[in-house]
Amino acid sequence: MPLFSIPKEVAVGTAMLGVAFATGVLAAKRYPLLGFGTHKPPRGFGKSSPLSQYILDHSLREHPILKKLRMLTADHPFGMMMVSCDQAQLMANLVKLIKAKKVLEIGVFTGYNALNMALVLPDNGRVVACDINEDYAKIGKPLWKEAGVEHKIDLRIKPAIQTLDELLANGEAETFDFAFIDADKESYNEYYEKCLRLVKKGGIIAIDNVLWNGRVLKPRKDDLAAQCIHHLNEKLLRDARINISTLPMGDGVTLAFKL
Ligand SMILES: C[S@@+](CC[C@H](N)C(=O)[O-])C[C@H]1O[C@@H](n2cnc3c(N)ncnc32)[C@H](O)[C@@H]1O
Ligand SMILES: *[C@@H]1O[C@H](CO)[C@@H](O)[C@H](O)[C@H]1NC(C)=O
Repeated sequence: MPLFSIPKEVAVGTAMLGVAFATGVLAAKRYPLLGFGTHKPPRGFGKSSPLSQYILDHSLREHPILKKLRMLTADHPFGMMMVSCDQAQLMANLVKLIKAKKVLEIGVFTGYNALNMALVLPDNGRVVACDINEDYAKIGKPLWKEAGVEHKIDLRIKPAIQTLDELLANGEAETFDFAFIDADKESYNEYYEKCLRLVKKGGIIAIDNVLWNGRVLKPRKDDLAAQCIHHLNEKLLRDARINISTLPMGDGVTLAFKL
């Protein structure tokens, strides 16, 4: 799936094609695998262009163990669910910029971004990492350890809504600095609302797949994920509790800055 004419190891992490289906299938087991595996040309914002390649070639500074995890995940049948490496790097830079200590990862998969954030957190920092599937995380765990940051990753295997409710019940509202929402799309609105309570003023919520491979333009009636994402995009635009920026990176990411 060479979206880039660069080494496979770089292309794979950035290629998000098929994420839409893979995520839907794994998250809710509701979506047909139609189209999955038949790799269409890249999405509209020129991912295969020489300039996109140039950007990666001249900006990606990937930790060797992150790269190792990306290569390992690329071999997984659902490897395309992994966050794109350039987007992960942006999130690490943001986490560092705001001097985050406590961050949330909703949808861990093999833990590329959990590791990515753990690497830039202080030693007493924490990633509360939510997923329903422990098998995926087992792939990444040995590398979290190898990187010496396993103690910063607090993996909670249960529906993320439940973990977020437990954090709120535990008095942890307004104690998180950063949250990354990247699990089942039907729950995005709930994840956002709960994250907004858990994150401090000045904290950031990053919401992934906000372009849903272009399907937000005209969400089909039978495409619940596209509808949920589109509704949230419309809501975020008018939400006075935050400021936002939406970036055409990966499958589209919205950064919400809590006011
Ligand atoms: C797109 S992947 C996450 C990719 C990850 N952020 C990374 O760094 O590569 C989505 C993940 O959400 C998980 N997921 C789906 N439904 C969930 C739920 N209700 N609660 C928690 N996790 C869920 C899936 O098991 C899958 O691992
Ligand atoms: C941030 O949000 C506030 C409140 O909605 C708004 O007045 C302001 O213009 C926004 N600033 C930016 C830079 O978007």
